[in-house]
Amino acid sequence: MRIPVIAGNWKMHKTTEEARSLARAIRDGAAGATHCRIVLAPPFTALTTVVAEVKGTPILVAGQNVHWETKGAFTGEVSIPMLEEAGCRAVIIGHSERRQYFGETDETVNRKVLAAVKSSLTAIVCIGETLAEREAGRVHDVIEQQLAVGLAGLTDRDLSHIILAYEPVWAIGTGRTASPEIAQEVHRAIRDWLAREFGDEEARGIRILYGGSVKPENISDLMRQPDIDGALVGGACLEAESFLRIIRYNAAGAGGK
Ligand code: 13P
Repeated sequence: MRIPVIAGNWKMHKTTEEARSLARAIRDGAAGATHCRIVLAPPFTALTTVVAEVKGTPILVAGQNVHWETKGAFTGEVSIPMLEEAGCRAVIIGHSERRQYFGETDETVNRKVLAAVKSSLTAIVCIGETLAEREAGRVHDVIEQQLAVGLAGLTDRDLSHIILAYEPVWAIGTGRTASPEIAQEVHRAIRDWLAREFGDEEARGIRILYGGSVKPENISDLMRQPDIDGALVGGACLEAESFLRIIRYNAAGAGGK
């Protein structure tokens, strides 16, 4: 049974005061929503504020990035114990913007993932191809390479600390969502790869989120796909109203998969 996850990646948006009111509005609007897990990933500076606002609710708070070392001379970085102390329960690792603008590679993703699975944090590991890679017919190669290197050294048990997020780079912030069929096809390929590497049971248990221009208008069709277990939302999570509409993708309340 895979309980769906709807996660909001706030990226570099929201001052602490703005974060407080957004978290409060989401908390109040989502009260009683039990069909999915809600995750909020505000900037580091707003983590403790958002944690305080959602305290006592099932809403989880995530960091947007983390370093693999627990401490040291790494200016500008934040460690796993720091996120844990701030009240985080999860962390996004390997987002395409980190790869594109800040030099993250599958190898650094792997170091972060290996550190995260040893901690209390759930790792939300992002993968996805660029437009050029898709047009060159290399989607499966790229995804398999990102998985093989990014998840290297993980045990079957470690997989239960991981959520994958398929975010085709060409769909992020462009308004150009992958069609439900295209997304499903890649999600299926990811699950097949996991089954080959870790076994059927592990592959069936892991949640694979879709990210890339998810909106209230397209979430329901995406969620109907058998291998799409939730969404990692960017732009549409910055207003409570649209994020809450995404959370209510199935007004009747969906079960797990
Ligand atoms: P958008 O929803 O703005 O396309 O961003 C997706 C994303 O990068 C979530 O991590």
